[in-house]
Amino acid sequence: MGKFIVFEGTDGSGKSTQIASLAKKLTDNGEKVYITAEPTVSLSGGILRDALAGITQKSPSELAVLFAWDRINHNVNKYDGIEKLLSEGYTVLCDRYYYSSLAYQGKDAGYEWVKSLNIGCKDIRKPDLCFFLDVSPKVSMERINSGRQTKEIYEKEDQLTQIRQTFYKVIDDLNDNIVIINAEEDMISVSNKIYEEYQKAFKNTVL
Ligand code: TYD
Repeated sequence: MGKFIVFEGTDGSGKSTQIASLAKKLTDNGEKVYITAEPTVSLSGGILRDALAGITQKSPSELAVLFAWDRINHNVNKYDGIEKLLSEGYTVLCDRYYYSSLAYQGKDAGYEWVKSLNIGCKDIRKPDLCFFLDVSPKVSMERINSGRQTKEIYEKEDQLTQIRQTFYKVIDDLNDNIVIINAEEDMISVSNKIYEEYQKAFKNTVL
């Protein structure tokens, strides 16, 4: 059985760069690695991306259900689902997961309801490890502004501040294996820290 690793963080925290970097280290080490993300590239993911871009309007509750639907499909689909990949021995690295639903939809759709939708669902697997890449909202905004032309609905500084606070609450509330990484340092230092924590977490596992 492979390992299921999730990367979380506010927008602009450098998740995709760090996922690519860990994937390279693990692949060099002989592990089979699969990179995936939420929202996914399936039908449900497309509906979500339109809503995130502001092309369609969805209520917070609708978003919470759509994200849960997308996540269930992400777990169980027979083509490239997380369960299938893990059973084939892949280490699955996932950009965002249910922690994002709790942090982003929890506030407006009701934290406990969003939690039960996700943690209470038998088809939504608990990750073996989650890295929370932590950056201040100011640095998030600087990175978002320098890197991209278009902004998604959550990419405003006051919203990022709130979402970061909710992430801290989620980390406290859940019994998950979550490591907070200071992601304001340079990319190489952050990457080394993540690899160190990864090795620590699985030191008793034969790689
Ligand atoms: P993503 O494409 O990962 O954007 P970024 O590269 O900026 O991290 O995520 C898109 C947006 O989706 C992001 O603003 C967070 C939001 N999101 C939720 O609101 N709830 C969720 O459950 C997930 C997975 C993402």
